[in-house]
Amino acid sequence: MDFDEVVRGRHSVRDFDGEPVPEKDIRAIVEEAGLAPSWGDTQPWRVYVATGAVMDRIRAAHEKADTAGVRGHSDVPTSHRTEWGEQPQRNMAAFGVQTRALAADAGRGSQEKARLRVQDEAQKESVGPDRADHPDLSAAQEHGQSAAAGAAAGRPAHPAPMALTNARLFNAGTVIYLALQQKMNQWNLLDLGAFEQTLALAAKNRGYDTMIAYELVRYPEEVRPVLGIPDNEVLVIGMAVGHATDAPINGLHARRMPVDEYLTIRK
Ligand SMILES: Cc1cc2nc3c(=O)[nH]c(=O)nc-3n(C[C@H](O)[C@H](O)[C@H](O)COP(=O)(O)O)c2cc1C
Repeated sequence: MDFDEVVRGRHSVRDFDGEPVPEKDIRAIVEEAGLAPSWGDTQPWRVYVATGAVMDRIRAAHEKADTAGVRGHSDVPTSHRTEWGEQPQRNMAAFGVQTRALAADAGRGSQEKARLRVQDEAQKESVGPDRADHPDLSAAQEHGQSAAAGAAAGRPAHPAPMALTNARLFNAGTVIYLALQQKMNQWNLLDLGAFEQTLALAAKNRGYDTMIAYELVRYPEEVRPVLGIPDNEVLVIGMAVGHATDAPINGLHARRMPVDEYLTIRK
């Protein structure tokens, strides 16, 4: 694939068709991600893949915890969105407006409900009044995305596509989890970020869609034992991989700031 097609074509897909990615493709994608640069060639990444029955098991545990309203407790701590910098907060708010528009559209048609295969869960959605642990969902919810909050406010309860597909781990058949050894520092996280983006681009280049998500590591205890992640490693992030369905939520393309808003060149 052309580089431009790969880099501009990658975007977060929140509803997959559930088909597992063949092992040979997983190996090729992960091997390409290993070409990412790292401080002193330390290559701090550790990679674990859940697919097939293992993925089903993780999803079932996740849905159960989410429905019970268990608060996220990822190995890498999160902070409330109000503790983020001013620019990230502004962008998060704008993203919330975009997702609200999507939720409103979903309320108008029945197609979304059918496609997301989750309408039964709309009423028992357990996002709760504050998703402080979840920057993506708390931003979306603040802008009225939550079905539960909508119902409480007297508005028709329409499905909250983003919260619901998050709860189902995006219906993905395969998830690639990234970990670091416990003696990690901030530079290792930078290296892992480079690995993660290369992973997403390598997948796109082979015709796969991806979803990098905190949601996938929200409850580490449901992932660590099944994948054999040792105690001396920190589960950092997960990336779902597979093929997108044509659900409207997959049409969400987060906007980007114009380059001049964040670029400074001095001569
Ligand atoms: C580290 C990280 C964690 C994320 N966690 C979630 C998540 O838990 N749920 C979700 O719906 N999106 C999550 N996202 C996706 C972001 O919302 C998305 O990358 C951003 O809005 C830009 O959109 P794009 O990926 O489509 O270009 C996460 C992205 C990153 C990089």
